[in-house]
Amino acid sequence: MRVYIIGAGPGDPKLLTLRGAELISSCPVVLYTGSLVPKEVIARARADAKVMDSSGMTLEQIVEVIVAARDADQDVARVHTGDPMIFGSTAEQMRRLTELGIGYEIIPGVSSFTAAAAALGRELTLPELSQTVILTRAEGRTSMPEGEKLEALAKHQATLALFLSITLLKDVVRDLTPSYGADCPVAVVHKASWPDQVIVTGTLADIADKVRAAKLNSTSMVLVGRVLTATEFANSKLYDPEFTHRFRKGEPAVKTQGEMRAD
Ligand SMILES: C[S@@+](CC[C@H](N)C(=O)[O-])C[C@H]1O[C@@H](n2cnc3c(N)ncnc32)[C@H](O)[C@@H]1O
Repeated sequence: MRVYIIGAGPGDPKLLTLRGAELISSCPVVLYTGSLVPKEVIARARADAKVMDSSGMTLEQIVEVIVAARDADQDVARVHTGDPMIFGSTAEQMRRLTELGIGYEIIPGVSSFTAAAAALGRELTLPELSQTVILTRAEGRTSMPEGEKLEALAKHQATLALFLSITLLKDVVRDLTPSYGADCPVAVVHKASWPDQVIVTGTLADIADKVRAAKLNSTSMVLVGRVLTATEFANSKLYDPEFTHRFRKGEPAVKTQGEMRAD
């Protein structure tokens, strides 16, 4: 018996991995986070599978379901939204499984922050502008560790992907504006990859008003950074004809006659 901790992806059932789909279709027990995992993903479970929504359960109730499956020698598909290793509350489940001597395997998924970037058609890392993406959240009922407060992270001016923060947008704006500037671009992607996806774009100066007007208050990714609107960025080295790497030898640029005369 094994527990498969599976990332369901951000919403579109076609963004589930082949391995995840195979396991959901074959496990006799399917335990899924019903708040965000789409029904189509779960619809592929066996007709005789025991399918349970964990959104109203406590950790101990989840463990009870898994222990009952262990006693019946039944594999469990434990299905989480996005990628299970990011804001998935999976560490505490894995700790309990280890204590109980129950083996598990993790099947990664497409996280909502990459799905949001895809929806926007924006690369989150651009040469010379931002080579770092910080995955974090605003401080709400869950307190932030010392050193990870938004004001401190903002000093890096890296691209930010904020989970679980849509209802705290005013605080986000207050904490980021001193470092990023009020004109810094912000994009909010609500339900990335779902049929009812909504995108709101703006700046730190106006995003809170725009999001309030759009009435977005759940399941949204907040992306912040100059990469969101930049057009005048440098090309990467990867496809530079003069740059040599493992798969291609670079060639020195051939100068035109005009360039040689200018030298
Ligand atoms: C508990 S976290 C789970 C994150 C998930 N493990 C992931 O990798 O995307 C839930 C938060 O993820 C974000 N989220 C999840 N699915 C989303 C989607 N389809 N579009 C936008 N944001 C999403 C929202 O910020 C939401 O509040």
